[in-house]
Amino acid sequence: MEILHYGKDVAELVKGWKALDLAVALVPTMGALHDGHMRLVEKALEEADRVVVSIFLNPVQFNRGEDLDKYPRTPDEDLRKLEKAGVHCAFVPGIREIYPPGFSTKVTVSGLTEGLCGKYRPGHFDGVTTVCAILFGIVSPHVAVFGMKDAQQLAVVRRMVRDLRMGIGIVPCETVREPDGLAMSSRNAYLDREERAQAPVIYKALLAAREAVKAGVGDADAVKKLVEEKISTADLAGIQYVEVVDPDTMERLETIESTALLAVAVYFGDTRLIDNMILDASGD
Ligand code: PAF
Repeated sequence: MEILHYGKDVAELVKGWKALDLAVALVPTMGALHDGHMRLVEKALEEADRVVVSIFLNPVQFNRGEDLDKYPRTPDEDLRKLEKAGVHCAFVPGIREIYPPGFSTKVTVSGLTEGLCGKYRPGHFDGVTTVCAILFGIVSPHVAVFGMKDAQQLAVVRRMVRDLRMGIGIVPCETVREPDGLAMSSRNAYLDREERAQAPVIYKALLAAREAVKAGVGDADAVKKLVEEKISTADLAGIQYVEVVDPDTMERLETIESTALLAVAVYFGDTRLIDNMILDASGD
């Protein structure tokens, strides 16, 4: 596996691969790689002949007061995992490589960034789309793989790629869960024992909502109430939002007629966890 720190070196490597007609996938990450990330990598290896994984803890997608300083960093272990998985290139840029002096561009997707996490993390998605646009520009992959746990991020990146005609296929990858249902996240490492024991209530609530919709409940408020009640049975849980939205536009839905995205953000102590589930009124 090549470990590269400069965009020009990655661009040259990818150019060589493309000259050989090889398909290239990018998996953007912020490091602290867990099994959820490794599933993205597996997916990328299925989709393409060559895989680049970027590791860059992007400061501009964190708000003041968020967890940038304490965000887990496991650089050596990350590289070991990527090598073992058969990744072809790890791109590990420094801050100045991504944001050189004089950098003054911001990529904003409007509308679908306003609700859900966007409401509580102002500017977060601008940081995500800006860094993804930079990484896409450097690597110019045929496809890029994103996890479905960050459903709003996936929709926002898809919209950016579509609107800016970037010509990159965005491949979604299913959420990987711990055996008790908790969605894998680098932030799970912050949970203490009691919080960790209660956190699977989120998935249980999502499953209950899925069953209710299958059984014919179509009123979004009724579904939200059910989820809020279930999550509130855990005394350490602090709900930030429970929303039922259109999976592509992220607009709020009043009724669930076909498919809908049920998205939640819940605090356990200072740790903010997000999760989601596709609800299908057809019962599938
Ligand atoms: O999902 C993440 O880890 C980040 O938001 C991403 C896509 C790597 C951009 O920094």
